[in-house]
Amino acid sequence: MDKYQAAFDAIIEKDDRVEPRDWMPDDYRNNLIRQISQHAHSEVIGMQPEGNWLLRAPSLRSKQVLLAKIQDEGGHGLYLYSVAETLGVSREEMIDQLHEGKAKYSSIFNYPALNWADIGAIGWLVDGAAIVNQVSLQRTSYGPYSRGMIRICKEESFHQRQGYEIMLHMAKGTPEQKEMAQDALNRFWFPSLMMFGPHDADSAHSSKAMQWKIKRESNDTLRQKFIDKTVPQAEFLGLTVPDPNCKWNEETGHYDHSPFDWDEFWAVVNGNGPCNKERLDHHKKAHNDNAWVREAAVAYAKKTESTLV
Ligand code: 3HC
Repeated sequence: MDKYQAAFDAIIEKDDRVEPRDWMPDDYRNNLIRQISQHAHSEVIGMQPEGNWLLRAPSLRSKQVLLAKIQDEGGHGLYLYSVAETLGVSREEMIDQLHEGKAKYSSIFNYPALNWADIGAIGWLVDGAAIVNQVSLQRTSYGPYSRGMIRICKEESFHQRQGYEIMLHMAKGTPEQKEMAQDALNRFWFPSLMMFGPHDADSAHSSKAMQWKIKRESNDTLRQKFIDKTVPQAEFLGLTVPDPNCKWNEETGHYDHSPFDWDEFWAVVNGNGPCNKERLDHHKKAHNDNAWVREAAVAYAKKTESTLV
């Protein structure tokens, strides 16, 4: 084994962080570019379902809170694109891969937000699942990704709380509001569990990702953590998790659950979910309509640069 591989292995072994200037195996680099760019795409595409409800928020306060959350998500996307760029991929390449269907984003954002209770369910469940996943990723072996996660997790907990506050308000509100909250939970429960990816045994990347300490806990471990944390929250709301087999198992110390519908998962991941086309068309239109902003920013940067030399 050459000295570069040995130095890389020593960093991983010691639980240190791999930095952009360190030598790293191509497979490690490419796995990170794949995961981090898709993470960034998810943050940005995830702004769409919530953005559709900004003008229909039920109060000025709820509009302000939702606007702050959406702005955070855009910022998370920018941090993560910048992290991916430290690995040698350009922003343009990543956006092209998204537009050409070569890069994915989280399946959850291909489900529609039909009413205000869905905005609550998205904050509570989607950001709640993201927190479980991202808290674990704070210990990922790639330095810039780990530091980005630490920053993002601080903001993510506000996102989860704003969603849970909406659910609490509706679940404790009129019978119609409680019914809307239950319906939102029914529609978002299983898609939120899918955010953690396929079962470990079916995961194409997990074994290497765990070996390189990109992933510190497996898809199934994190999914179970989220279930165990969230079911009591649903009970506090007086809502019922839409899974008759979701029962506390004294023996395992976890909640049991029904088998997942992986056909639906892969259909949505492979472009056949309720909103896949709408989400990608919207992203392409926004990217093209706002090309002038990027061009103006680049021209201004060049102009100021020339005056500095
Ligand atoms: N949606 C879309 N694709 C998914 C997916 C999902 N929910 N789960 C897995 N996949 C894809 C993987 O990308 C991979 O496809 P690829 O080879 O084309 O990239 C394939 O399915 C096999 O899955 P693996 O488990 O082998 O893939 P990973 O090892 O990458 O694990 C993951 C999947 C757990 C999502 C991991 O990529 C990860 O932890 N990513 C970082 C976190 C992230 O991206 N979260 C998405 C939501 S971000 C968010 O919610 C923002 C919040 O503010 C709302």
